[in-house]
Amino acid sequence: MSSSRAQWRKHFREARNNLSAKAQQQAAADVAHRLSSLPELRDARRVAAYLDNDGEVSLRELILLLQSRDVATSLPVLHPFSGKHLLFLDYTPHTPMKKNRFGIAEPELRCQSVRLLAEHQVILMPLVGFDNKGNRLGMGGGFYDRTLANLDRLSRRPLLIGVAHDCQQADALPVMQWDIPLNAIVTPTQTIRISQP
Ligand SMILES: Nc1ncnc2c1ncn2[C@@H]1O[C@H](COP(=O)(O)OP(=O)(O)OP(=O)(O)O)[C@@H](O)[C@H]1O
Ligand SMILES: [Mg+2]
Repeated sequence: MSSSRAQWRKHFREARNNLSAKAQQQAAADVAHRLSSLPELRDARRVAAYLDNDGEVSLRELILLLQSRDVATSLPVLHPFSGKHLLFLDYTPHTPMKKNRFGIAEPELRCQSVRLLAEHQVILMPLVGFDNKGNRLGMGGGFYDRTLANLDRLSRRPLLIGVAHDCQQADALPVMQWDIPLNAIVTPTQTIRISQP
């Protein structure tokens, strides 16, 4: 099972890294347009996003659009001591940034900038692969799975939306019991909503 997950990861990472700069730009614009039209993002007060890495769809355009609509935005930050967990920190155009150990820019850690999961109405998640059941394959660290493991305890659960290129779609992904499923997936050409079991 784990080796097939590794093979899927290799396949999707190569596919998205092989997209041209033009295709990446178009994907970012199409995804920003789709996401910004969703009622959940229109009504949101705070949305968690990510800064793209390794060929992921860029959300920079969307983040600027949300900020211009007065929707607060957050970004994930590697937890400084709670192993392989993420914190979500407030992100504005003036937020001081630094690179984390994976070379990804993140807000500098300041306690007053930390936002609770429950403060977000939507969490936009990067992914390596997805399927139309909402299964998500990440980079393999388990960061999002750990951070979101207790989401059901919240009285208001943020909507989890995976963001991806169309070439990151699998017919059916192998799933592990700790994988946190997505509520929706947005690609440049599709908005997939997962109905609750
Ligand atoms: N809730 C959890 N508690 C403890 N360990 C976990 C939890 N979720 C995942 N893990 C561990 O994290 C490792 C990686 O998980 P997985 O392969 O699902 O990562 P991923 O979903 O690809 O990564 P990410 O969540 O960072 O995008 C697994 O070995 C798993 O044991
Ligand atoms: Mg997982």
